[in-house]
Amino acid sequence: MHFLNTLNGEITSQPPIWIMRQAGRYLPEYRYIRNTELDFIEFCLNAEKASDVTCQPITKFNLDAAIIFSDILLILHMLDFKVSFIKNKGPKLKKLGFKEKITFNDWNKFKSSLAPVGKAIRLSRAKLDKNVTSRNTPIIGFSGSPWTLFTYLTEGQSSKDFSNARKFLWSNTQGSEEVFEILVQAIICFLEIQLEAGVDAIMLFDSWAGSIPARFRNKFIYEPTRKIVQYIRAKNASIPIICFPKSMGEGIVEFADIISPNCIAVDHLTDMRFVHKSISKNITIQGNIDPVCLIHGGDTLKKEVDYLLNLISDRPYIFNLGHGILPETPQQNLIDVISYIREKNIGISIS
Ligand code: CP3
Repeated sequence: MHFLNTLNGEITSQPPIWIMRQAGRYLPEYRYIRNTELDFIEFCLNAEKASDVTCQPITKFNLDAAIIFSDILLILHMLDFKVSFIKNKGPKLKKLGFKEKITFNDWNKFKSSLAPVGKAIRLSRAKLDKNVTSRNTPIIGFSGSPWTLFTYLTEGQSSKDFSNARKFLWSNTQGSEEVFEILVQAIICFLEIQLEAGVDAIMLFDSWAGSIPARFRNKFIYEPTRKIVQYIRAKNASIPIICFPKSMGEGIVEFADIISPNCIAVDHLTDMRFVHKSISKNITIQGNIDPVCLIHGGDTLKKEVDYLLNLISDRPYIFNLGHGILPETPQQNLIDVISYIREKNIGISIS
């Protein structure tokens, strides 16, 4: 509950700890279960397997929060933009052309196709509660934010410069607004499934927020995100919401003012001194450690942790990285950093 108290604005002597992509390829246990399923979407929709990998990093590292194992691209898959994952290449999906509209409108079908995510959450709750140390560990539900989903929809894959997504916005702003309306509806639906299944907090991943032209931030980041947050709060007043508007630079301040999330996750490219000075102390801060620094580990990592924790000791903070943990991260570095934060000494080795 330490994690939820911090999300709700309490300052504690040690920050709660969880890690973005904590259930992932750096874990041999994850890779083992992942290999039992060819297709990644099928894997996400297998409630038994998804709940097993959700619990793996909790039972192994005693982290302070679980995040349900799923993916932001499930939404696009269920909107009939078939997503597949190509090994070592990332996602591929049917792409929305510049003049095209989303024709999907069967929301009952959409909801029932995502029911396995709700089931995985209920199973994760039961599995965590079986074990004394993981009992009551909060579960975070999540979605991609509209802009980040829009980039995958219009690029058909991951992108470096997002030129198709930006071209869509400039050449068909009215059509873009219609696409965003559908994405907002789909995101709300996806989050409702997770809330009904009992998640304790919500996180909105806007991984590519730093790539939208600043002139469009208001229309395509702030407005749609605000709609989602307001809707969720109107229905579930006590659910804390974490937003991750990655790499927005100075835009993170306006984002925090307009959206007013309980917590802002900060990437590693943003100067924490700026964030600390510019964002209201009522908002909890999460993250900021460079994932590559966690790969490096040792004293360098400890110094970074000291720097960060000293800098923001007078406000609620949740320890996390500035982006997802990388597959090549040694597990021991994660074990060491957790015990360093909790005890200020280095943990016992695992085999
Ligand atoms: O542990 C957790 O954090 C929960 C599970 C989770 C995954 N994806 C599992 C996953 C979460 C929260 C996500 C979010 C996600 N998915 C984001 C936002 C966060 C971020 O990292 O920016 C994005 C942009 C995606 C889209 C996505 N999913 C891509 C681009 C890829 C391929 C590249 C990669 O990182 O592997 C995925 C696949 C994916 N999602 C994997 C995992 C564990 C790896 C798939 C595998 O096992 O082969």
